[in-house]
Amino acid sequence: MPHSWWRTGTVYQIYPRSFQDSDGDGVGDLEGVRRRLDYLVWLGVDAIWLSPFYPSPMQDFGYDVSDYCDVDPLFGSLARFDALVGEAHAKGLKIIIDFVPNHTSNAHPWFLASKSARSDPKRDWYLWRDPAPNGGPPNNWFSHFGGGAWSWDEQTQQYYLHSFLPEQPDLNWRNPQVRAAMHDVLRFWLRRGVDGFRVDVISHIVKDAAFRDNPANPGWTGEGPDIIRLAQTYSSDQPEVHDVIAEMRRVVDEFDDRLLIGEIYLPIERLVAYYGKELQGVHLPFNFQLLDARWNAAEIGRLIEKYEAALPQGAWPNWVLSNHDRPRIAARVGSAQARIATMLLLTLRGTPTLYYGDEIGIGHVDIPADRIQDPWAKREPDVGVGRDPSRTPMQWDAGQFAGFSTREPWLPLTPDRETRNVATMRDDDSSILALTRKLLHYRRERAPLNKGEWRLLCSSDDILAYERVSGEERAFVALNFCSEPRSCALPTTAGATITISTHGGRCGEAVGTVLCFRRDEGVLLSSP
Ligand code: NOJ
Ligand code: MG
Repeated sequence: MPHSWWRTGTVYQIYPRSFQDSDGDGVGDLEGVRRRLDYLVWLGVDAIWLSPFYPSPMQDFGYDVSDYCDVDPLFGSLARFDALVGEAHAKGLKIIIDFVPNHTSNAHPWFLASKSARSDPKRDWYLWRDPAPNGGPPNNWFSHFGGGAWSWDEQTQQYYLHSFLPEQPDLNWRNPQVRAAMHDVLRFWLRRGVDGFRVDVISHIVKDAAFRDNPANPGWTGEGPDIIRLAQTYSSDQPEVHDVIAEMRRVVDEFDDRLLIGEIYLPIERLVAYYGKELQGVHLPFNFQLLDARWNAAEIGRLIEKYEAALPQGAWPNWVLSNHDRPRIAARVGSAQARIATMLLLTLRGTPTLYYGDEIGIGHVDIPADRIQDPWAKREPDVGVGRDPSRTPMQWDAGQFAGFSTREPWLPLTPDRETRNVATMRDDDSSILALTRKLLHYRRERAPLNKGEWRLLCSSDDILAYERVSGEERAFVALNFCSEPRSCALPTTAGATITISTHGGRCGEAVGTVLCFRRDEGVLLSSP
């Protein structure tokens, strides 16, 4: 299947709490997503990835799962989920769901059994250890959300490991019963028709068998969250994880044409190992390089070339600009450059993942102290504003609650919601929404963009230009990363015409050997 849907298509990430509320509780839900499917078809995406909607105490907003095979009443029900899948499929959209294998909620019946007694049959389903000789935790590992990664259980007199919140105990993936139970979870959803999984922190699921201390992180400057004090030598990316993933892949391959995406924050050399031996790992290890890249044409040109060169034979690339854990792209690079970023994301080689709300250019949103929701922000208040600013509700219209809900939403809307919303922007040809839509549709129709080769033409501090080639067909992309007009000699594009400009207009304009840009402008050209 050289060009299956997940290669040529675009994935759209929905954070269900924040997309559309259908029952007036201020929190988005599955029925809300179903009602907005026509918008997604109009926009031109191919697949939806839903962040977790499972029953959960919501300590980490659903990434603390207490039942893998059901839907939290806040989000709906299995019947609502089935209706969503059925309708999405009828409209030609695929559904990818979040799978959270590293940890459960501490309210999951498996953990309740496991902590009930050392002799419980599920004791070994989690990572229990005796104290260190001094009575303290078994090793020096930190939680990603601040503080130590071990919590003491008074009743059974042992520590359990939690890489995230104490309410998110880590499962023991070395235990075959855990693997079998989790495989059945995958099958449960595959039978219900889901087209794939985004697997949460997949590189963390296997830990060092001896739980050795992590060494110091030589790059640590004395600041930032606890987790970066140490290198994660023994708590993540263990060699044995690849067999566990290959096994997961075989389960997914019991069904036709399904997709596995892995959430993996690792340097490229280690990231590409997750395609697996003979590409039998995840189909797409998320490529997060653009999340941290310095916003500079030369830098980004280098990073793309390095990534392209590191891909194993036959491996398919992918690109991400923002997600529910990281600052929104417009918050990071500003609203003008967010258009450049959108053109970049949708014209690189490989599957793009577009984060909901980025198509209307939602930027930084101030979260008043009394409205902070993110558990990480509450545990490590000094390290920044947390993840709430990236999770604010989608803005649909200029109404009181932006068409998201009939009451005050769980997180604030943006101050410019009266203009920054779908209804207002959809008919404005110069809006970022119109740009995103044009790019999505053009990408879908044109082989150079959805499957062609990628070649660098030029990368200076300000201008990044590349071509995409499929057979005889060619497309060129040239991006001005600077907030002043620029020009650039690009002999290869002579005779081509502008098809899309990030700032509207110029469509059909023929270019000579020198290409002129307005400030912050990107152009997509098609060959003569
Ligand atoms: C990664 C998820 O994207 C994040 O939102 C979550 O808090 C952690 N994993 C823990 O599940
Ligand atoms: Mg609701």
